[in-house]
Amino acid sequence: MTAMARKRVAVLISGRGSNMASLIAAAAASGYPADIALVVSNRGDAAGLAHAQAAGIETAVVSHRDFGTNREAFEQAIQDTLERHRVELICLAGFMRVLTPWFIRRWEGALLNIHPSLLPSFKGLDTHARALQAGVRIHGASVHFVTAELDSGPIIMQAAVPVLDRDTPATLAARVLAAEHRIYPAALRLVCEQHVRLVDGRCVVDVAAVEGVMLVAPDAE
Ligand code: GRF
Repeated sequence: MTAMARKRVAVLISGRGSNMASLIAAAAASGYPADIALVVSNRGDAAGLAHAQAAGIETAVVSHRDFGTNREAFEQAIQDTLERHRVELICLAGFMRVLTPWFIRRWEGALLNIHPSLLPSFKGLDTHARALQAGVRIHGASVHFVTAELDSGPIIMQAAVPVLDRDTPATLAARVLAAEHRIYPAALRLVCEQHVRLVDGRCVVDVAAVEGVMLVAPDAE
């Protein structure tokens, strides 16, 4: 059997880039089915860019400010950059621009996002403060396919973390972030190895392909 070619993945960031770094680290391991071919930021001052460059990854800055209110022109510039680098899959990782239906349709089934909550709870921003405010005892993170409705696409993988009485938004965010760094590379692997199918708008996952020791769903047991 011939090995499947590694998928050429672009990571889109706006800031710190710790999820991007977790994807780069995963892809450095032999046998990982994705190659982080490109990191794109809409901000030239995104801290993640320096990390990507130090890891030898190609980077590009496409500033939304250069396009004023013309979101499609901004996205066309991103699209041109992705095509130049022969990108096949996109991971949004703290990319703080809302994408238009045009771009999302173009990348249907090949556009992933990580969101810091157990979706469908706490869509949008400030998820950790809102989880504390709501008094939930379990919180977490979700990797999902992007669809036109914000934070609502089919869920590929989720991780749960406990909420402690002494938590602040910052301590809870740190616990969730550690879980994010585990599930994003794992979810990307599942997609690249074609262990995820979309059925009636939901993900069906080949659980035999999943390894996990924390409370991550899907679980192989
Ligand atoms: C993460 O919490 C991610 O879930 C959310 O934005 C944050 C990005 O953090 N979408 P980083 O830039 O990956 O460190």
